[in-house]
Amino acid sequence: MRQWLRALPTFAGPLPEFDPGSAPTDPITLFTAWLREATGAGVPMPHAAVLSTAGDRGRVSGRTLILRDLHERGWVFATQSTSPKGQDMAANPYAALTFFWPAMGRQVRVQGGVGRLSAEAGAADFLARPPGSRAACLTGAQSQPLGSRQEYWDAYAQSLAEVEADPDLVAPHWAAYAIRPEWVEFWQATTDRGQIRLRYTAADGAWTSGLRWP
Ligand SMILES: Cc1cc2nc3c(=O)[nH]c(=O)nc-3n(C[C@H](O)[C@H](O)[C@H](O)COP(=O)(O)O)c2cc1C
Repeated sequence: MRQWLRALPTFAGPLPEFDPGSAPTDPITLFTAWLREATGAGVPMPHAAVLSTAGDRGRVSGRTLILRDLHERGWVFATQSTSPKGQDMAANPYAALTFFWPAMGRQVRVQGGVGRLSAEAGAADFLARPPGSRAACLTGAQSQPLGSRQEYWDAYAQSLAEVEADPDLVAPHWAAYAIRPEWVEFWQATTDRGQIRLRYTAADGAWTSGLRWP
C-alpha cells in the first residue's frame, strides 16, 4: 500500500499562474475569481468543501457540503441544525471550510466564527431546492441510525407527497449558517515546488495579507 500510494501522481499541470503581489485587497474577490476559474476549467463541483467542526469535548469532525452563498456575512452553507455538525456549531461556534480544486493545484481555507443566519434565510435556502431535495431533507433526523433502505424510501415517498401538497413547507430544523472568517488562505501549487501561500487576516473590519512558508 505504501509504495502504491507514493507512486500516485499529484499535480499534473499545466497549472495556472498566481502572482500574490497583484492579488486583490480582499479575499472574497480572490475567492470568487478562483471559483470561477475552477468552474471554467471543468473542476467537478467546485462549490463543494469540507466543513470542519469541533464540539464541546474538542472532538473534531469533517464532512463535505455545498457552498450556498457568499456575501458580507460570510461563506454560507445549509444543513439540519439538529445534525452532529449543527450540535457542534451550537456548542462551539467556530468552523473551517476547505476547498480543493486538484486540476488547478489550488486549495482555499476559510476559518473563523460560525453563526446561524435568520429563520428566513434558512427557509429561503430550503425553498430554493428542487422538490426531491426538499423531500430528502424532510425524511428524518440527519445522521441518526437508519433501520433499512426501505424505511428511508417509505419516508421519502411520504415527504415528497407533503412537499408537493404544500410548496411552502420548510423542514423544521433546516438552517443556513455563515462562517465569518478570521482568516482566508489561498494555496497555489507550482511545478517548481515553490508552492505559494497567501493568507488574508481580518483586522478591525479590514484585511491584511501576507505570505506564509509553504
Ligand atoms: C458533495 C457532497 C455535498 C453535500 N452537501 C451537503 C449539504 O449541503 N448539506 C448537508 O447537510 N449535507 C451535505 N452532504 C452530506 C454531508 O457530507 C454529511 O454526510 C451530512 O451532512 C451529515 O454530517 P454530520 O453527521 O457531520 O452532521 C454532502 C455530501 C457530499 C459528498
